[in-house]
Amino acid sequence: MIVAVTGLVLILFVIGHLLGNLQIFLGPEWINGYAEKLRQLGMLLWVIRGGLLIAVLLHIYYTIRLAIENRRARPERYKRKDTVKATFASRSMVLSGLILLAFIIYHILHFTVRATDPRFNTLPLDPLNHYDIYSMMIYGFQNPLVSGFYLLSMFLLALHLSHGSSSFFQSLGLNNQKLTARLARGGRIFAWLLFLGYSSIPVAVLLGWVKLHTRS
Ligand code: HEM
Repeated sequence: MIVAVTGLVLILFVIGHLLGNLQIFLGPEWINGYAEKLRQLGMLLWVIRGGLLIAVLLHIYYTIRLAIENRRARPERYKRKDTVKATFASRSMVLSGLILLAFIIYHILHFTVRATDPRFNTLPLDPLNHYDIYSMMIYGFQNPLVSGFYLLSMFLLALHLSHGSSSFFQSLGLNNQKLTARLARGGRIFAWLLFLGYSSIPVAVLLGWVKLHTRS
């Protein structure tokens, strides 16, 4: 239950974050204005950040406990392991989850703390006096290594969610035989749409479709 509910909170965040980030395609005033509105939330932003952190920690703690319990339930390893039904996504949940955690730590150091790229702290405010998140994203993703790591992480996020979003219903008992296949399919479509949405940003920067804006 806890894994499912915290997973849902994180899925909602990931949807909202994508919608916010896609504003890069509408231009600097959109994405920078959006980031400014988030900043203006003040204390509420810290409450949301705290809630997200608690959700991530609980999600990880209980999934690792579940994985250990599953292992303990069968102390003797299988001599031969033929997978009948479990998909690759479902079998790699712990690994994809742990790599995602490493990504989130790097990502916060990259864009929120701005500790990985010295250029971010020298960027002037944009013409509307907002932090220039737009230019940060362009500078960041112009580096193919950075973009590559983001794309790999988005792929793992989709893999993780393609199983996780449908097993959410199973964990809460909101499932029946007829629904199972549909939910699994819906979960996969949702996860790969997220992948397309997020990946479009580094790909567009690498291809030069979104460029640094010229200041007047
Ligand atoms: C192409 C993909 C992504 C881009 C361009 C992006 C962009 C950003 C930016 C610019 C910030 C800083 C916002 C600010 O300081 O105003 C940020 C913060 C953050 N991002 Fe992302 N993000 C991406 C993917 C993700 C994913 C997949 C996750 C989660 C799995 C994620 C989780 C976070 C978190 C937790 C923060 C910190 C929020 C805060 O400062 O309170 N991001 N992201």
